[in-house]
Amino acid sequence: MGSGTEGVGEAGVSRRELVAASAAVAASALFATGNYAYAQGSDRIKVGLIGCGGRGTGAANDCFRSSQGVELVAMGDVFADRLNGSKGALKDQLKDAFKVTDDTSFVGLDAYKGVLASSANLVILATPPGFRPIHFDAAVKAGKNVFMEKPVASDAPGIRTVLAAGELATQKKLAVVAGTQRRHQAPYVATIAKLQAGAIGDIVGGQVYWNGGGVGNGYGDKGSQTDLEWMIRHWYPWTWLSGDHIVEQHVHNIDIACWVMGGHPQSAMGVGGRSQRTEARFGNIFDHFAIDFIYPGDVHILSMCRHWDGTPGNVSERFVGTKGVTNAAGSISGPNEWRYQGQSTNPYVQEHADLIASIRAGKPLNEARQVAESTLAAIMGRMAAYTGQIITWEQALNSQDSIVPDMAKPAAAIPVPAVSIPGRTEFK
Ligand SMILES: NC(=O)c1ccc[n+]([C@@H]2O[C@H](COP(=O)([O-])OP(=O)(O)OC[C@H]3O[C@@H](n4cnc5c(N)ncnc54)[C@H](O)[C@@H]3O)[C@@H](O)[C@H]2O)c1
Repeated sequence: MGSGTEGVGEAGVSRRELVAASAAVAASALFATGNYAYAQGSDRIKVGLIGCGGRGTGAANDCFRSSQGVELVAMGDVFADRLNGSKGALKDQLKDAFKVTDDTSFVGLDAYKGVLASSANLVILATPPGFRPIHFDAAVKAGKNVFMEKPVASDAPGIRTVLAAGELATQKKLAVVAGTQRRHQAPYVATIAKLQAGAIGDIVGGQVYWNGGGVGNGYGDKGSQTDLEWMIRHWYPWTWLSGDHIVEQHVHNIDIACWVMGGHPQSAMGVGGRSQRTEARFGNIFDHFAIDFIYPGDVHILSMCRHWDGTPGNVSERFVGTKGVTNAAGSISGPNEWRYQGQSTNPYVQEHADLIASIRAGKPLNEARQVAESTLAAIMGRMAAYTGQIITWEQALNSQDSIVPDMAKPAAAIPVPAVSIPGRTEFK
């Protein structure tokens, strides 16, 4: 683990209407970038960063670039070397807006508590997903607005925590935006608005893909590291930390399916396994999944993801309706043929612009439920492939399979999780 904690202490409508209302705020915020009329609330966004790796460092810079009046005031990471690397980069990028001091820099498993006790009014949560529920729950209880990276949990108990904390955020009028950046990407926003207005009729099926070469293959030498440090430093191959790649990456495409379908799937049946990741050093994740997600109305959406070197890549979505076909991202064919010809914005920056605009307008976006449902859909697909069984939404949501070790009392030895075997691994 890092060198100890330096400081500890401590935001009667139908679902369709809610979705439409939040899409409307997102869309209006999307086109309001650059309008810095602070109708309500603080004109100064003080950011705290929890998880100072690649994406956390990038997200802090994106947040700064998205809007005026943003400064970084506190940072926390479990490892001192990761914290210091990120501090160096962000100091250069943010210049005078970098206000982090030694007193507002925190290291260790409790580093998030230090950041939450700081003057930050917006926190960025960018650790591996296994920790997101703990951090999101604590952030909302501490009254912070939140930007949290996807996915938002690695198991169903974590999803239930996120759902509850998301509701608390609504009661506290806190903004919550997730790193499902396609929700803030102009071609997707415009196309899916057209689909919701019936541009291809009723959706009767579709496909979503994340086929690529792989991430984080292998976990390196353990050396003198504790089990926990070793796993956290090389988190991708462990389901309890990453959720497996169907959750960690493919959630982006599954989220598009849920957006287009206006809700979550009802059940999942699928296959998966390890073809290239055959050695123990690849942790306990699979390297391929193919899931048949069934949405209301018996609409089947095929989800496919794989981490196979030497095979063609494909990261995309496709939906078939009674009156046409779309990629959901700027192209509709059929009687209502259409191509997106508007502006292209950087969605990684836009998501922060939308978040901050919603805070300042006093109309906080809250994406907690939508990202929790998309993450749970991905977990349901994983459960279906790991067990070989058909898994319903209710089974997934109520699953007692708690895979994240207790971080309040981390054990000295963490057993290496077994690789699941469909037909033999039991659903819990
Ligand atoms: N939206 C996107 O397109 C996108 C892209 C990349 C990553 N991500 C997501 O961002 C998250 C982080 O990914 P990354 O690529 O930056 O990984 P990373 O390994 O580069 O960074 C993770 C950081 O979190 C720190 N950390 C781990 N456990 C912690 C804890 N309990 N408390 C505090 N710090 C802790 C690590 O030391 C590390 O510095 C993941 O959820 C990932 O899925 C999203």
